[in-house]
Amino acid sequence: MKGLIALAVPQFRRPSGMLGRLVGRYMARKNQQRNTWTIELLDVQPIDRILELGLGPGWAIERISQLVTSGFVAGIDHSDVMVRQASQRNAAAVREGRVRLHQGSADEIPYPDKTFDKAFAVNVHMFWHDPIATLEEIRRVLKPGGSVSIALQPKWAKTEDEVRSRGNRIVQLLEKAEFENIELRSKSMQPVTCVCAIGHKINSSYSQIRANNS
Ligand SMILES: C[S@@+](CC[C@H](N)C(=O)[O-])C[C@H]1O[C@@H](n2cnc3c(N)ncnc32)[C@H](O)[C@@H]1O
Repeated sequence: MKGLIALAVPQFRRPSGMLGRLVGRYMARKNQQRNTWTIELLDVQPIDRILELGLGPGWAIERISQLVTSGFVAGIDHSDVMVRQASQRNAAAVREGRVRLHQGSADEIPYPDKTFDKAFAVNVHMFWHDPIATLEEIRRVLKPGGSVSIALQPKWAKTEDEVRSRGNRIVQLLEKAEFENIELRSKSMQPVTCVCAIGHKINSSYSQIRANNS
């Protein structure tokens, strides 16, 4: 099984073809614990508008759409195979207009400014070509007061120190993209700890006043 996973590594970046379909099914089964924890951290409210970047097989979107009863959930993935799998998994919610799925890149989000209350990505940001630019794009579509959660379970990490330093690196990226009140959470799980950095888009006029006063 380990050899098969090694062969499939490029597929986690952008699942494609028949192998991509298998990788999608594998992710839907094996990534549930970290996605469940990330969803808990989102503290989903019934009226939330939530965006997932790198939705993979759409497992998290399905869970969140059950919690969001009067808002909506959107997801983006650049893999056509993943968008198809996620569309099948969420077919009823898509039909009802509660879930919208898009094939595209996380650095070009097809929504106007200030659309979402919360955005998140789980084991995705390490694939972004320019993570700061992508986080700035996410910030654009968040409402003032909105949050972004970037989770990572680095299954390849050899030590807990390495996991921690990857978490700190996400915090630095969020700072560079001008998120504020950043916190780093972690949860012990197998085979390695999962970290999640959460940043907030503070009301821009408030930030401006603070900047002028400093
Ligand atoms: C390792 S999978 C994680 C999937 C899911 N979040 C999970 O935890 O099970 C990474 C996903 O992000 C997508 N992805 C990677 N880079 C992306 C980008 N720049 N824009 C959109 N999707 C991207 C891949 O196609 C893949 O579906």
